[in-house]
Amino acid sequence: MDFSIKTFDAKTTLANIKAGCIAVGVFEGKQLSSAAKALDTSGALAAAVKSGDITGKAGSTLLLRSVTGVQAERVLLVGLGKTNPLSQKDFGSALRAVASVFAAIGASDAVIALPLDDVSDSSTAWAINCAVIAIESNAYRFDEMKSKKDPLPESVKKVIFAVSADDAEAAKASVASSVALAHGMNLTKDLGNLPPNVCTPTYLSEIARKMAKEFKLGIEVLDRKQLEALKMGSFLSVTNGSIEPPKFIVLKHMGGKAKDAPVVLVGKGITFDSGGISLKPGANMDEMKYDMCGAATVLGTFRAIAELKLKLNVIGVIATCENMPSGSATRPGDIVTSMSGQTIEVLNTDAEGRLVLCDALTYVERFKPSAVVDIATLTGACVVALGNHNTGLFTRHDEAHDGLAEELLAAGKTAGDTAWRMPIEEAYNEQLKSNFADMANIGTPGGGSITAAAFLERFTKQYTWAHLDIAGTAWKSGAAKGATGRPVPLLTTFLQNRVTTAK
Ligand code: BES
Ligand code: MN
Ligand code: ZN
Repeated sequence: MDFSIKTFDAKTTLANIKAGCIAVGVFEGKQLSSAAKALDTSGALAAAVKSGDITGKAGSTLLLRSVTGVQAERVLLVGLGKTNPLSQKDFGSALRAVASVFAAIGASDAVIALPLDDVSDSSTAWAINCAVIAIESNAYRFDEMKSKKDPLPESVKKVIFAVSADDAEAAKASVASSVALAHGMNLTKDLGNLPPNVCTPTYLSEIARKMAKEFKLGIEVLDRKQLEALKMGSFLSVTNGSIEPPKFIVLKHMGGKAKDAPVVLVGKGITFDSGGISLKPGANMDEMKYDMCGAATVLGTFRAIAELKLKLNVIGVIATCENMPSGSATRPGDIVTSMSGQTIEVLNTDAEGRLVLCDALTYVERFKPSAVVDIATLTGACVVALGNHNTGLFTRHDEAHDGLAEELLAAGKTAGDTAWRMPIEEAYNEQLKSNFADMANIGTPGGGSITAAAFLERFTKQYTWAHLDIAGTAWKSGAAKGATGRPVPLLTTFLQNRVTTAK
């Protein structure tokens, strides 16, 4: 898909432009938007609206051909809902509708002449981002593994945003950053959707190497021997039952000043989570190929910020392995020693995410980070608590202390990729007591996503830290099964905001 912007004036009018399609808005109450009015010299659009063929309800559409006085072959009327204010939610549904029409018409290029600068509490840049992501998400296919691919329908391949001269510069920058974000999300989706016999820890490390080469990023991939030397006994205990070698990937995007402390992203990369000896039940176990979506999010976010040449130091760390049962697998009752020296009684081998993350969280102390954010499909309990709408956010660092919570929540809101704050406090630590080691790897019943976060917190005392539990948001189940690319938008926006606020 190709995106660009165009400004219109008295000479270059919307009516004069030659394109396969022009999309203009209609508000509830049968009201044409100003661009629609400008286009409607013949009264054909007003007549279509008056006839009741389109009401203006957000997300409704009406495609007209050969409108008198309009050079473009088609005019797409798009319902925007209420004017004044035009809400972000309605604008989003309108753009999703535009995306699905664009994907199924004979036009190869199209102009979007919607009120991009009129969406409440947002800028033209925001509206363009919303449009680019809607169109790219609609066009996303994962058919790599099919021997016979569905033929692609004829569709719009070139999208032009009509903007005012005042907005042109910001619009152009937004197109570039939105496209970079879409590329990042697509990578995250692809990696998530790949089957676990293809997307192994070795495969993830190769993807990281390729990306490092393409974008000139620093990279280091540690193998089992090096992890043993680092005494990552907790991480390594998860790999015991698998024949796939574990990998520990470190990516560096040093776009900021050399002395600036980096933001570190840590991703859980279990390429298949069978549960290990504490075997999961069979139903939907295939979905545990998505247990590497934290890792895929780190890679996708790096894809986005590298393409953007973001002026910030960011380090990505991925701990990746498989969790399998076998004669050599870790048993319930085994006690392992983490890199931090703290000992852990493994009461349930299915609580493996925290076992790999805790060593990664100790490892990243060496970077003296300005903040560390880990991203993990960590607990089914988080899905029970928040469903599929919000990522769970756990951090002790709020307004009174560094403001990381507020930063991440705000980035999620802007990006339409929201998180919801969950508690993290001393009281939950009681639940992790072990009779035989420093802690158990599961909590006593209740608050499963919170006790998991409390476990991780014990390894994060040296820096500002937040944990994102993406078990409910990283992929969809059922007929529309597939990775969502979340929370790449949240994290990319968070990092972009850090450049402008120079934290
Ligand atoms: N990867 C799972 C979490 C998960 C389960 C995410 C289902 C999405 C859907 C994680 O490794 C796990 O198995 N967690 C256990 C922890 C329990 C044993 C304390 C869980 O959530 O059941
Ligand atoms: Mn598990
Ligand atoms: Zn898992």
